[in-house]
Amino acid sequence: MTERKKPEELRSHRWYGVKDLRSFGHRSRTSQMGYHRSDYAGKPVIAIINTWSDINPCHSHFKQRVEEVKRGIWQAGGFPVEMPAISLSEPFQKPTTMLYRNLLAMECEELLRSYPADGCVLMGGCDKTTPALVMGAISMDLPAIFMPAGPMLRGDYKGEYLGSGSDTWKYWAELRAGNITEGDWQEVEDGIARSAGHCMTMGTASTMCSAMEVLGLTLPGASSIPAPDSRHSQMATLTGKRIVDMVWEDLKPSDILTAQSFDNAVTAVLALGGSTNSVVHLIALARRAGVALDLQRFDALARRTPVLANLRPSGKYLMEDFYYAGGLRAFLTQLGDLMDFGQLTCTGTTLGANIEGARVFNDDVIRPRSKALVESDGLAVLTGNLAPGGAVIKPAAMEPHLRKHTGPAVVFKDYNDMAARIDSPDLQVTKDSVIVLQSAGPQGAPGMPEWGQLPIPQKLLKEGVRDMLRISDARMSGTSYGACVLHVTPESHVGGPLGLLRDGDLISLDVDARRIDMQVSDEELAQRKAQWKQPAPKFTRGFGVLYLKHIQQADTGCDFDFLETEKKVEADGGEPEIH
Ligand code: FES
Repeated sequence: MTERKKPEELRSHRWYGVKDLRSFGHRSRTSQMGYHRSDYAGKPVIAIINTWSDINPCHSHFKQRVEEVKRGIWQAGGFPVEMPAISLSEPFQKPTTMLYRNLLAMECEELLRSYPADGCVLMGGCDKTTPALVMGAISMDLPAIFMPAGPMLRGDYKGEYLGSGSDTWKYWAELRAGNITEGDWQEVEDGIARSAGHCMTMGTASTMCSAMEVLGLTLPGASSIPAPDSRHSQMATLTGKRIVDMVWEDLKPSDILTAQSFDNAVTAVLALGGSTNSVVHLIALARRAGVALDLQRFDALARRTPVLANLRPSGKYLMEDFYYAGGLRAFLTQLGDLMDFGQLTCTGTTLGANIEGARVFNDDVIRPRSKALVESDGLAVLTGNLAPGGAVIKPAAMEPHLRKHTGPAVVFKDYNDMAARIDSPDLQVTKDSVIVLQSAGPQGAPGMPEWGQLPIPQKLLKEGVRDMLRISDARMSGTSYGACVLHVTPESHVGGPLGLLRDGDLISLDVDARRIDMQVSDEELAQRKAQWKQPAPKFTRGFGVLYLKHIQQADTGCDFDFLETEKKVEADGGEPEIH
């Protein structure tokens, strides 16, 4: 049996348990909030990092859920302390929540460091909140458990299901093509988001929450439960209960996260047909955990991993269907020898033990390997003279005829240029052209927004074109689809070859060969590089200056250089003396 901590070994003991002037202040100020000493003395203090906000619809149930988490903590003999943190609301924050992922990671880490936390519950789910909270918790390395927001209910439109994002792009294209009316579009708007919870396609939120469960950082089955389901409330309470024991057991992220658990997470994401954003986030998370995950590892695992989740944007169904079909636990049973089920999780037992007894109830939603949606290549990593540091594409969500394609570039120098000209009748473009967007990367945009599903020009939409080759240094929403080459590294803003492209240059994509090249000679490229001038930085004050100075490129996860693992301050004993 694991040796349990003693109360005087708790980190919070330094705030509450000692007899000095400072601890007098901590105790008297806790009394001021109406707590009796018996409420907290000798108990683990559990920080609940809550990313609730009035402007985050994906977390609008967190006001209620946090009470349910607290209920579990009280029941298990802990002392819950809710700590609000910045809510990265994907639909509202400009230019992109990605600009602030590392800020939330820092906030999470510093909240845990500066307050008397013995362990934490991380409440997130909307896209960047998940990696951000977990990145911060990994760096602090206190016992931590993630409580996913859960997907919202299916959207509804004229008797059909609507999927977050995916159907927005679909019906927007139909509106621009003149195939639906403004009234139809209004109905889509009213019916696509019907409850609290994160996007219910296999977008970034569903992908990252599933990845956290596979990594062992959530309770078994937690990531698939729809947000409004009463079982989500129950899961919140159980999460609160479990973290208290994790503190006594001293079960930390560093005990759970290994190279094998990250391989498991990548494999599951690939088999789910998950978001390309997970590449950036999982690499950042792994590097925080001291695991050398890189783009080539994603590609190697993609070559052997079938896509088994029939979920939009790659497939047909939505997260609610996935839950009723058995959810992630059942899904993982299908992966068999592709996984290492011996990895430890936050339950104190293995991933394999967590999925024991799980069953698939609908094998069209969760496919067996004999009926895979796609045999392999849910994602592919490309390199070539256009992306020496790598780029990614999602072959499972593009038209197959574009897997090998050569066409002339139509170049937009930034987002505004694209918005101004993309629908112009004068634009020289055909279905074989390759649309290129520059200045959309971590520094150039800045923040590497989800602009990567570049719009198809209106005149081609009217001809019936629904997919064409598109390239950028941006990311793409996990709910998007199409032949979009993303995360081109190095980005154009720092002198990457993408920034040297000109209209008419021939670009070749070969997914099977994992190549993305421009047919421009080395001499010509050298000449263009000599003439190239770096655009002015996008920020001159505030957080943006810090961001631009320290942000790293997509292939290493876009973390700040000073947050790298070797810069970690030990959670216990390594904190600076601050009085
Ligand atoms: Fe929050 Fe999609 S908008 S998860």
